[in-house]
Amino acid sequence: VPASWDRVCQDFPTLQLRTSRRRRVVYLDSACQSLRPIQVIRSMERYYSALGACGNSGPASNFLARKTTEACAKAREKMARFLRCRASEVVWQPNTTHALNTVIRGLTKKSCPLPLRLTRGDEILTTDLEHHSNLLPLWMAHEEAGIRIRVVQVTAEGLFDLNSFQERLGPRTKLVSILWSSNMTGTTFPLKEISRIAHDNGTKVLADGAQFVPHHPVNVHDIGTDFLAFSVHKMCGPAGMGVLYGREELLDQLPASVVGGETVRGVRLQVGRRGVARILPVFESPPERFEAGLQNFSGIIGTGAAVDYLSQRVGMSRIEDREAILRERLLNGLRSIPEVRVIGPVDPDVPGRAALATFLLPQKKGEPRRVQALAQWMDSRVPGHRIMLRSSGHEVHPFHYRLGLARAESSRVSPYFYNTPEEIDLFLASLKAFLDHDRAGS
Ligand SMILES: Cc1ncc(COP(=O)(O)O)c(C=O)c1O
Repeated sequence: VPASWDRVCQDFPTLQLRTSRRRRVVYLDSACQSLRPIQVIRSMERYYSALGACGNSGPASNFLARKTTEACAKAREKMARFLRCRASEVVWQPNTTHALNTVIRGLTKKSCPLPLRLTRGDEILTTDLEHHSNLLPLWMAHEEAGIRIRVVQVTAEGLFDLNSFQERLGPRTKLVSILWSSNMTGTTFPLKEISRIAHDNGTKVLADGAQFVPHHPVNVHDIGTDFLAFSVHKMCGPAGMGVLYGREELLDQLPASVVGGETVRGVRLQVGRRGVARILPVFESPPERFEAGLQNFSGIIGTGAAVDYLSQRVGMSRIEDREAILRERLLNGLRSIPEVRVIGPVDPDVPGRAALATFLLPQKKGEPRRVQALAQWMDSRVPGHRIMLRSSGHEVHPFHYRLGLARAESSRVSPYFYNTPEEIDLFLASLKAFLDHDRAGS
C-alpha cells in the first residue's frame, strides 16, 4: 500500500534536519541530485555492516561474497522490472555521463562491427538543448573519429520540432543522441515518435533520460529507444550510481571503452621474439563487459532499494500526479511576477512539461545578473528556512548563449515528490521579497 505524502516526507532524514537557528531545509535542487529516504540509506548500511564482500559475478568462493552477489543480482532484476527489460540489458554505470560515453565511444571504436559502427563521415543527430554530458562525447566522436555532428534546433522555449528532425535525418545519420527531458526548459521530447522515425531510417537512438526516468513510469520496449542513460542519484538512489539500458543484440556487439578486471572471461599473453607480445582477451557478454573493476556494491544494493521505494512505497503514477500539482503552482506563481523571465514554457499544461523552472531576473545596467545573490538570499535570509535552489549554467551553456545571454547563468528550482505545495508558495513569496528588497536598494 503506498504511503501518504506526510509519511513519505518523514522518510527523508534531510527534511527533518534543523540547521542553525532551527531552520528547516526546503530542498529545491532535485534535478541535480535527489534526497534519499531512510530505506535506501539503511540498505547501504546493511551492505557495509552485514556483507562487505565482493559481489562481482563469477563463482563466489565464500559465504559473504555469495550473499553480496545474490543481493547485487536482485538489484539488477529490480531495475530490469522497473524499465520492463531483461536483467542482461541493465548495465551499472556511475552516472548518465558515463553511460552516454559508453555508447558513443563504443560505437566509434574500430572493434565495433559494421554496420553498427560509426565511421568517418557518418552523422550523429542531436539538438541544441543538450546537457554537456551528451554534447561532449559527441565532440569527442567528431575529434577522434571524424563523425559529423548535426543539430536540430529546438524552439526558443525548448520544444522539439518533429518536422525539422525529419528534415535533418539523412542517409548517413547512424545515431540520434538526444535528451528525453531537459534539465533547463523542462520540455520533454517525443522519444517514441523520434525512435520510430529514426528506425525507419535505419538509425539507432540513444536517449538521455536523466530528467525523465525519475519522474515517470517507463517501458523501454514500448518507447523503442535502443539505448537509455540515466542517473540513480536523481531518483532517490546512492550518489555515483547510474544505468545504461541497451537492447540485448546491440549491447552484444558494442565494445567496451573501459577495460580491465571483471570485463573478460580470460586473457592470454603470447610472447614472441625479443619479448614482443600480443594480449588476447576474450571479453565477457554484457552487462559485465561494461562494468570494469570492483563495483560499488553498496550503491548497487541501494539502487535496488530506491527502485522498491519509488515503485512500491510511492508509486510512479502518483509521482506524476504530485508533480503536476507542484508544476502548476510553481509556473503559475512565476508567471504572476512580471520581472521574472522563465526559460521554457510557462504554461503548466504544455504536454510533457516537467515540474522545474529555470528563470532570469532583470539585470541592472552594467551589473551581472543577480543569480548568485538570489541563491544566497534563499539560503540565508528567509526566516526559519533555508531554501536550496541552483544558480549556474546547468551544464547547458550553448542554449544560454542561443538565448542571447552574455553569461551562461540562470536560476533553477527543481522540486520532487517530497516537496509540498506550501514549500513552492514559500519559495514564491521569498522571491517576491528578494525583488522588493532589490528594488528598494536601487
Ligand atoms: C539532462 C541531463 N543529462 C545528463 C546529466 C548528467 O548527469 P550525471 O551528472 O549524473 O552524469 C544531467 C545532470 O543534471 C542532466 O540533467
